[in-house]
Amino acid sequence: MCGVVGYTGKKPAAPWLLDGLATLEYRGYDSAGIQVISPSGNLHGVKCAGRVATLRERCDSANPVGTCGIGHTRWATHGAPTDKNAHPHTDCSGRIAVVHNGIIENFQELKRELMAAGHTFKSETDTEVIAHLVEDAWAGPAKGDLVAALRNACDRLEGAWAIACVCADVPNQIVVTRKSSPLVVCSTDEGAYVASDVMPLASVASSVLQLQDNDFALLSEDGRVEITNREGEKVEHPETITIDWDASAATLGGYSDFMAKEISEQPEAIERLLTNRLGEHGIEMDELSMSKEELASIDRIYIIACGTSYHVGLIAKSLIEKWAKIPVSCEYASEFNYSDVLVTPHTMCVIITQSGETADTLTAARRMKGMGSTVFAITNVLGSSAARESDGTLYIQAGPEVAVASTKAYTAQMAASVLLALRLAFANGSMSREEVERRYHELEAIPGLIREVLARRWQPRQAAKLFRDKHSALFLGRGVNSTTAYEGALKLKEISYLHAEAYPAGEMKHGPIALLEPGFPVVAIVPADSVHDKTVSNIQESIARGAVVLAVATDGDEAVAKLCQDVLWIPPVENEMLVPLVAVVHLQMLARFVARARGLDVDKPRNLAKSVTVE
Ligand code: M6R
Repeated sequence: MCGVVGYTGKKPAAPWLLDGLATLEYRGYDSAGIQVISPSGNLHGVKCAGRVATLRERCDSANPVGTCGIGHTRWATHGAPTDKNAHPHTDCSGRIAVVHNGIIENFQELKRELMAAGHTFKSETDTEVIAHLVEDAWAGPAKGDLVAALRNACDRLEGAWAIACVCADVPNQIVVTRKSSPLVVCSTDEGAYVASDVMPLASVASSVLQLQDNDFALLSEDGRVEITNREGEKVEHPETITIDWDASAATLGGYSDFMAKEISEQPEAIERLLTNRLGEHGIEMDELSMSKEELASIDRIYIIACGTSYHVGLIAKSLIEKWAKIPVSCEYASEFNYSDVLVTPHTMCVIITQSGETADTLTAARRMKGMGSTVFAITNVLGSSAARESDGTLYIQAGPEVAVASTKAYTAQMAASVLLALRLAFANGSMSREEVERRYHELEAIPGLIREVLARRWQPRQAAKLFRDKHSALFLGRGVNSTTAYEGALKLKEISYLHAEAYPAGEMKHGPIALLEPGFPVVAIVPADSVHDKTVSNIQESIARGAVVLAVATDGDEAVAKLCQDVLWIPPVENEMLVPLVAVVHLQMLARFVARARGLDVDKPRNLAKSVTVE
């Protein structure tokens, strides 16, 4: 949720800290700050509410000089996004500073205790208690040993954390640790680095070390990284993650924003995922780590996810039930965690999460594992918590997704779900090899169809005008495309702040129809499929009440063209179950054009963060 960086070495720290924070800004952008140890041996902090760009301007005038420092970009949980609540936070002496991602659940009790002992607090954050706890440990049992001081402080904490800590008394050291929040470190000739994820490190290293819960790493200016566990024992073989993409994959590469870039990358992402998948098991998916017999015995599946990934889950449910004939429940992770679960000896749990770090989803996965279920993850981020904690992981290989609004991960996760449904269907005998191959070839055609839609971007650009001066919109679709409606509405509200509601088209008459009045925008997904005519009837009901209807329809649908104000055309898709992969691309572009017309930052919508690591 927040981004953490740190560097100690030969180079000036501030420039890399600022670049690293800019890369991590997708995790939160309410405020940002850095703390550098100056050559005179004092902490020099610069922090402010707002974006990393504002912090950069502040640093231009404050000029923090030094070769060791830490930085943070924040998604506010405790305390408003103000200068004083921005990290890093310091102790009473101003010689110890910390940055933190996560939540300290017992901070109030600790704060009371520390204040009673004479500590003075400057912020409303939970994080500040860490700086004061380190201060006490440094002054007492751990003097001279920053790792021991942080370990001592962490012994008092409850909750989740990724922490980086510096102390002006040991001016070239950074100590970091984590529990339930990701943190990676790397060692180079120029120094040692730490970051919340691999993205900022891709420009300085080809592989990084993944810290495990309660690992502590001491980073030294000569580039050394020493990792110990909670008991102080050396961690001999830390997990290594090879960065198998170029640092340029996380840059704009000529696009005006990441959302535009990521929308356009969808065909290649799906093609990568489909490579070498056809084989003797119908679909080859070694990632499942389950035998054919185990797969064949699955009698119930829980799909658990949040947000856009939950929408993928809804489609995956339809695909698995239709093709593999296995009953599936698709659940919002945040709700699932507090509901009753029916686990049989052959229940499988599938978690879908782009980031692999969504706290609600991880909690749900742990709960399912605890009840004896096999957990399979569909994720994008290599070495993420979801991947590490699951029994098997299918990486969608979409490359870094930077824009907060998920686009390429949505379609790649959907393609992964198609593969999973086919694998299960073949394993339990619901589908013959020939049929699996037919469906696979239909899926293979999808990237080409998405390219055609991308080439029609002028259509959503023009249609975006329908939303000028509007405050609300209703999205309708039937069958698998009710989910396309949900996703289209989520994209629109997320980045344009326009209220958008989505309903299965047939449900409209049971309530939402009351919203309709002359000029009210309705977006209807009405491809040439088995429910086409029913959806057309719902369009007619909307028009009868004065709604302005924008349709997503299949080339050549004259009836829809005549009825609707405007149409976003998609090429014919052979299998109607795969239409959502193509139709959604128009809605992604539409949301982006509407948001841009409103002058909004499409990559960093207000109040949101890419990776939601709090429950
Ligand atoms: O990383 P995850 O897929 O677990 O994230 C889940 C949601 O937070 C995410 O899909 C969110 O809804 C997106 N901002 C939607 O565009």
